[in-house]
Amino acid sequence: MRFAHRHLLGIEHLSQSDISEILDLAETYVAMNRQSTKHSDVLSGLTQINMFFENSTRTQASFELAGKRLGADVMNMAMQASSIKKGETLIDTAMTLNAMHPDLLVVRHPHSGAVDLLAQKVNCAVLNAGDGRHEHPTQALLDALTIRRAKGRLHRLNIAICGDVAHSRVARSNLILLGKMENRIRLIGPPTLVPSQFAEFGAENYDDMNEGLKDVDVVMMLRLQKERMDGGFIPSEREYYHRYGLDAAKLALAKPDAIVMHPGPMNRGVEIDGTLADDINRSVIQEQVEMGVAVRMAAMDLLARNLREAA
Ligand code: NCD
Repeated sequence: MRFAHRHLLGIEHLSQSDISEILDLAETYVAMNRQSTKHSDVLSGLTQINMFFENSTRTQASFELAGKRLGADVMNMAMQASSIKKGETLIDTAMTLNAMHPDLLVVRHPHSGAVDLLAQKVNCAVLNAGDGRHEHPTQALLDALTIRRAKGRLHRLNIAICGDVAHSRVARSNLILLGKMENRIRLIGPPTLVPSQFAEFGAENYDDMNEGLKDVDVVMMLRLQKERMDGGFIPSEREYYHRYGLDAAKLALAKPDAIVMHPGPMNRGVEIDGTLADDINRSVIQEQVEMGVAVRMAAMDLLARNLREAA
C-alpha cells in the first residue's frame, strides 16, 4: 500500500504502513542532510507557502529548509503583517493565496480545526504545522523517527508523556501515533493537566512521576503552555518543578538506557533540568530537531508525488 493522501492534516488519518513509509523515506533524507551538498529536485517547479499564525522557530525553519533542499520555491508569509490584521478572514486569505497556484501550503494556527477547514477550500496539498490543541503531525513523526533510531524499533516500548498534556497538540499526535504502532503509553502530570478523556487512546494516567517513570524506555517531556492557560492549573513553577520537573534523580527510575525527549521550546528549570536536557548521553533533543527536517522532506515528497499524479 502506498501513501494515498492529498493532505497531511493529522496522524489520525494515517495507517501503520503510511507512518512506516514516511519514516523509511525520511531515513534517506537524514543521510542526504549529512552530506555537504544537500540538494534534490523532487519539488522542483513547485511553490511552497508557509503561513504561520502563531510564533514558531524550529517548525517554520525546518519546513523552510526542507522545501529548499528539495528544490521548491518557498515563501514565508509574515502573518503578523498580513491582511488578517485588517480584518480579512482566514478563508479569504487562503483563497487569495490559492489563486496564486501554490502546490504546498504549510499552516500553523491557534485554533483547533482551522487547518482542516482551510484544506477544504484550496486546491493544493495542505500540511498541518500545528492547530491549537488538536494535532501536530510532523512533530509526532519526527519523534517516532528519533525513537526508532535510538531504540531500534517503534513498537512494544513503554513511553511516558509528561507534563502539560491538556494543552498539547504534540501529546495528542504522539498518543495517536505511538498507540497505532502498539506501544504502551503513560501520561504523567497533575490531574489538572492530564485529562481523563485521554484514556480513550489506551493510555494509563499517573499523577506521580516516581511511579509513572518506573521502567520506561522513553521519557517525553512537554512544555508548560502558559499561553494556553487561564490560571489555576499549577500551584507555582517551583512546586511544579519539584513534583513534575525531570531531573537525574527522577530519570534514575526509568530504564538505564531510557532516552529523554522534548519538542522545544524548553522552560529550563520548570519542566526539565537544564543540565539533563544538554546531556548527550541521555537527551535526544538535538536529534529530534535534525529528524524534523528529514521527516518534513519525506512528507512533502510523498504529497508532491500524489499532486503530480493527479495533474
Ligand atoms: C510545539 C508546538 O508548537 O506545538 N513546539 C514545536 O513545534 N516544536 C510544542 C510547544 O510549543 O510546546
